[in-house]
Amino acid sequence: MANILHINCSPVGPRSESYKLSERIVALLLKREPTATITGRFLGSGTIPHIDAEYAAALGAAEASSAEKRLEGSFSLSEELVQELEIADYVVIGTPMHNFTVPSTLKAWIDHVARVRRTFTIGRQGKVASLRDRPVFVAVASGGRYSSGPARQPDFLTPYLNAVLGMIGLCDVTFFSIEGTALSPETVAVIRAETERKLEAHFSSLSSPSPDELAKQRRLGELLDDGLKLTFPASDPVAPFIEEQLTSHRGR
Ligand SMILES: Cc1cc2nc3c(=O)[nH]c(=O)nc-3n(C[C@H](O)[C@H](O)[C@H](O)COP(=O)(O)O)c2cc1C
Repeated sequence: MANILHINCSPVGPRSESYKLSERIVALLLKREPTATITGRFLGSGTIPHIDAEYAAALGAAEASSAEKRLEGSFSLSEELVQELEIADYVVIGTPMHNFTVPSTLKAWIDHVARVRRTFTIGRQGKVASLRDRPVFVAVASGGRYSSGPARQPDFLTPYLNAVLGMIGLCDVTFFSIEGTALSPETVAVIRAETERKLEAHFSSLSSPSPDELAKQRRLGELLDDGLKLTFPASDPVAPFIEEQLTSHRGR
């Protein structure tokens, strides 16, 4: 059974524009995966604290501290949030744009899931992702426009999320937005309808994976989440597929 991790970052909660857009994406995913379970994570009111000193020190340390090994302090919440990500087959993030980028609540979540020796490692070649990839959908609401138009403003949200999610292995990221919520209600209605058309076009263009394909992807996910400890009989019909995927994952 597939799992959808639904993260919401607006302080306005379920009435917010980004929440409603992200809910629509979840509904379209449920059409493809009717038996999927949903894990909800509301960050809007500041439910994720800032990281503590031991956690901050971990990034520069060559080896894990005792707090890191025992999952104390920020490591404990980090582990909970990383495990939510690991079991998710799809991630849907509803977020407003705040000061040209992500709200601080989403940044606090990112600081907890982008964890050295857990979701990425640092080697000679720089940071190497440890999580398996899966589709991530980001639903953005902004008061003004940032992707086009005359009053276009800087957008640090899209490139930032692409970079930081990619750093931990989440590279399949698709953005949908309602840009211009501060405009007149009539204009906002037109923008919402346009975004709805884009959503429908996107989801109707996706072919449903075959049961075989789904079984392969789930099997691969289990193996990757199991620390890449690969043991399966050579007679396994999905063995060549998994071997190929693991080779490409290790080579990243
Ligand atoms: C602290 C703060 C900063 C904001 N910064 C921006 C911004 O840089 N650009 C923008 O277009 N809108 C900005 N807005 C407006 C919100 O993006 C807009 O109201 C959006 O629709 C809120 O989405 P929500 O209903 O999902 O919370 C800001 C709002 C707040 C509260």
